[in-house]
Amino acid sequence: MCGIIGYIGDRCASDILISGLSHLEYRGYDSSGVALMHGNEIDIYKAPGKLINLIEELKSKQDVCAKSHIGIGHIRWATHGLPTTTNAHPHTSNCNNLTLVHNGIIENYQELKEELIKVGSVFKSQTDTEVAAHLIAYEYEKTHDLLKAMQSAVKKIKGAFAFCAIHKSEPDKIVVAKRNAPLVIGVGNGENFIASDIPAMIEYTKKAIYLTDYQVGVVQKDSIQIFDKDDNLTANKIEYLPFEAVAISKLGYKHFMLKEIHEQSDVVRNVLGGRLLSPDKEVNLNEFKLNNDEINKISRVQIIACGTSLHAGMVGKYIIEKFTKIPVDVEPSSEYIYRDTIADKNTLVIGISQSGETADTITAIKQVKECGSHIAIITNRTDSTMARLADSLLPVDAGIEVSVAATKSYMAQLISLYLLSMKIMEVKDKNSAKNPEIMKLKQELLELPSKIEILLENTDNIQRIAKKYSNYKNFIFIARGINFPSALEGALKLKEISYINATGYCAGELKHGPIAMLDENMPVLAILNTGIVYDKVLSNCEEARARQAKLIGVTNYLAEKDERLFDDIIKIPSGSDLISPAINIVVLQLLAYYIAEYLGKDVDQPRNLAKSVTVE
Ligand code: M6R
Repeated sequence: MCGIIGYIGDRCASDILISGLSHLEYRGYDSSGVALMHGNEIDIYKAPGKLINLIEELKSKQDVCAKSHIGIGHIRWATHGLPTTTNAHPHTSNCNNLTLVHNGIIENYQELKEELIKVGSVFKSQTDTEVAAHLIAYEYEKTHDLLKAMQSAVKKIKGAFAFCAIHKSEPDKIVVAKRNAPLVIGVGNGENFIASDIPAMIEYTKKAIYLTDYQVGVVQKDSIQIFDKDDNLTANKIEYLPFEAVAISKLGYKHFMLKEIHEQSDVVRNVLGGRLLSPDKEVNLNEFKLNNDEINKISRVQIIACGTSLHAGMVGKYIIEKFTKIPVDVEPSSEYIYRDTIADKNTLVIGISQSGETADTITAIKQVKECGSHIAIITNRTDSTMARLADSLLPVDAGIEVSVAATKSYMAQLISLYLLSMKIMEVKDKNSAKNPEIMKLKQELLELPSKIEILLENTDNIQRIAKKYSNYKNFIFIARGINFPSALEGALKLKEISYINATGYCAGELKHGPIAMLDENMPVLAILNTGIVYDKVLSNCEEARARQAKLIGVTNYLAEKDERLFDDIIKIPSGSDLISPAINIVVLQLLAYYIAEYLGKDVDQPRNLAKSVTVE
């Protein structure tokens, strides 16, 4: 949520900042700004709306910008105050000497603001961030040292923050601080970078120092000094970044979302690679760190996640319970936090998150960690806060996902959950590896990449249906059993990128209320897979048809006599009920994509959303 970039070196700072911000646009995009230092002056440029507006603004200032080799930049996802130029970062102190950018939320900003007004601060914006600018400037007056000012200011601030600050009197440094919001320092040769996420600097360096909570740092051209909570200098821990710059390119696709949908067959291969070799072999999941005794003692499983990751967790519940008979609770992190945490050392907690930075999930994980439960994290970002909290870091390997709508990371999470459930089962029941149902599932997992490829080879029917239904204002998605989460996820994909009101229901719930909404203006998309719920979903489709709803069937089998029920049918490759969520979802992602694309929506950066939700 919001993106930060900083640069100090010999290159043109504005070029680096703009390039960095363009790779952070997925974190928020309602306004942006940069502060460029040259000599003892700081020039600030800001623009509301997308980054392109700031780029336009800077075009006429090229001569001035070229002189600056130190700067900080920000892209905003508004929390406090409208997305206006005044509220855009960077923010300055009254004397205009200090300038800063901020990610996170300052919880005690009202209190601090009142104190600062008493000592003469005049506020221009509605943001919580401006409080930090005034506070650090106030502290600076006491010591005339930016590091010390930052160190004392952060001790007074409650909440989450990543700060980057510059001061006119200290034109050779950027001072940074972090608590509960990610911040990374990219280590260069005679230059250094700062960013809230590595895509912003991966073009320039593959070495980085991840700041940890409560650290404050001074970044200069040729040095980086980091201080701990007690203001003691610490040793720099340099890590090598695992990403390639190519991962953040569209590679010819119109949108990142379409590229990422198409990457899913390879994502499945990556996650299975070396872990599932053949249907008659046990799963290798060395990343799961519990020993056999401990696995045998697991008495319950709790899955905590948000959004799409939560839907993956719901599929996970179904598979884990089926194979291991261990009860599984799945809960949105934001709800989990505010209940009594009932867990113990025999509880396996699974936190799922694409970004590994979702604030609600981090808080929930920290809370349950106190109970001594084993924490397994399924995240696409092994460099994230959540990964660092893991006792077991389970594989996802989806590569950087840029589009705000999660697609390939969901697929990877599902595969990771299949592996985990089979692993637990194989420990609990030594004969299970020879169980025909398990062998069949393993075979289907190994065949999954080619099934996804078959589906992606011909999308004409999906595109036709997308166009036909793109003008409907409401949609209902129905399914039962293991595909109920697919209905929720399909509806979420559609609403987030096309802004069409789409809701997923258990098909059996339709008659308990939602059926009242059905008429010819309400298309119902039904997921029908061969298996125990097939006939039941079909009956629910009959009920919808009787209310004149338009019916779209997504199915791997439909008897000819039943085809008459449907206005449109999307056939998917065959597969058991157990594997079907991993096939159905590709259709639902494509349908959402093509509807949004047909409507001309901003597919990769839908309004009001951000890729990484780092506020609670
Ligand atoms: O990074 P996380 O998986 O923790 O993010 C959770 C949700 O914010 C995320 O899945 C969100 O719902 C996506 N926009 C879905 O496409």
